[in-house]
Amino acid sequence: IAAAGAVYYLFGATGDLARRKLFPALFSLYKEGKLAEDFAVVGLARRPRTNEQFREDVHESIKEFCRYKVDDALWSKFAEHFVYMPLDINNVEGFRELKGLTEQLDAKFGIPGNRLFYLALAPDLFGPVSFNLRDGGLLETQGWSRLVIEKPFGYDLESARKLNKQLNQVFQEEQIYRIDHYLGKEMVQNIQVLRFSNAFFEPLWNNKHIANVQITLAETVGVEERGGYYDKSGALRDMVQNHLLQMLSMIAMEPPSRLHPEDIRDEKVKALRSLRPFATDEEVARNVVRGQYTAGALKGKDLTGYREEDSVNPESKTETYVGARVFVDNFRWAGVPFYIRTGKRLPVKTTEVVIEFKNVPDNVLFANRHDLSPNLLVIRVNPMEGIYIKINAKKPGVDNVIQPVSMEFCQSCQIGINTPEAYERLIYDAARGESTYFTRWDEVAQAWAFVDRMAQAWREDNSELHTYAAGSWGPARMDEMLEEDGFFWWPVN
Ligand code: BG6
Repeated sequence: IAAAGAVYYLFGATGDLARRKLFPALFSLYKEGKLAEDFAVVGLARRPRTNEQFREDVHESIKEFCRYKVDDALWSKFAEHFVYMPLDINNVEGFRELKGLTEQLDAKFGIPGNRLFYLALAPDLFGPVSFNLRDGGLLETQGWSRLVIEKPFGYDLESARKLNKQLNQVFQEEQIYRIDHYLGKEMVQNIQVLRFSNAFFEPLWNNKHIANVQITLAETVGVEERGGYYDKSGALRDMVQNHLLQMLSMIAMEPPSRLHPEDIRDEKVKALRSLRPFATDEEVARNVVRGQYTAGALKGKDLTGYREEDSVNPESKTETYVGARVFVDNFRWAGVPFYIRTGKRLPVKTTEVVIEFKNVPDNVLFANRHDLSPNLLVIRVNPMEGIYIKINAKKPGVDNVIQPVSMEFCQSCQIGINTPEAYERLIYDAARGESTYFTRWDEVAQAWAFVDRMAQAWREDNSELHTYAAGSWGPARMDEMLEEDGFFWWPVN
């Protein structure tokens, strides 16, 4: 079904996100009929560009990054919907001009006054842009207006609050769609279905049956060209505050009363609120590992250390790895450690959740057997998509040996690389007013409150920065932490 017609305003239209993700996503939606003919995309950035040049940029981008092949006939129909306007976002006059352009586009494409403002910009520009959208008259419309914004939403709780206050002067919470692109990933959305629709899992999803949960979000890349941004942000703000805690909340949340956006987000925020806060710096040191990569090698290629990367301070203490043991202090999860980790320059690119179940109680049948393994449920989010479970079975043969076997559902093997990209889903959802997979303000605030405590402990000079060689699995301290609890990281692939 096509989303309602709208004008899409892409702020930051000459940037990397637009090129890699947004243009290809729009094209895929168009190809699938999820965008009908009643839409227009206005590219906005400071740089002068003609409509033709802009369309050429879009064309190049979708040829390179879109999952669909671009055929000429479809491309020329699609391209007609794209226009470009150079804009100084601090000058309200430009916004008035943009309003004029909008009216022309509404008339040309039969758009019913709906406006979707997509801000692929640094967060300190969200406020000024919102004010000028209002003052330039762009919100005076018969249709809906929605604001879609990229992370990072602030730098800490305080700055996020300020930012939110600014946005709230112009937009209602219901109009604000905060992107966490992990929530657009197929298998993250599948967590709900797996949990709540399967008699295999639902009754076991608690501390009586689950021994621990392991969430890994590993990347092989370093900081690439983003040293300037990353050195100020670090893995805690770049990945933990958003992607990791969002995934954790999907695993830990209680069943919502209905599958409505607000009900789901109510449960997620409750899970985040139940995270046991770290009360002291010492608790942070015991439960959180802050790491930075040094020179190393991966697949035979030498890699430089983080401090030698472009635009990174040679004495930087910014973390490129965070691992932590956290607890969700509620009835369901009391006593179950959640181990989370994320890092750059790890050996593989993968996002995986491992649920380790408790062993069956020792009984006469299998007392003292060392060949029994715990049952695992593994949710593979990225780049492979699917799940598998590990169970014990008898090894065929005469010896009475037990071995773990897996049962696997490999979604990406079935559909291949053609599953929709996170950004396709999220743009489509925003255009339909479906807000489930966007983060609500209280979730963002709660996540900041939780990570701020770690950041605060790290600001003290005596807090330890562990190092790890690029291409390794991160600081050894994180493995020790699991060993202390009698566990280990299950290998990921
Ligand atoms: C982004 C981070 O939000 O997520 C990047 O800013 C990171 O540093 C990226 O590389 C990872 O996303 P994905 O979808 O490639 O796993």
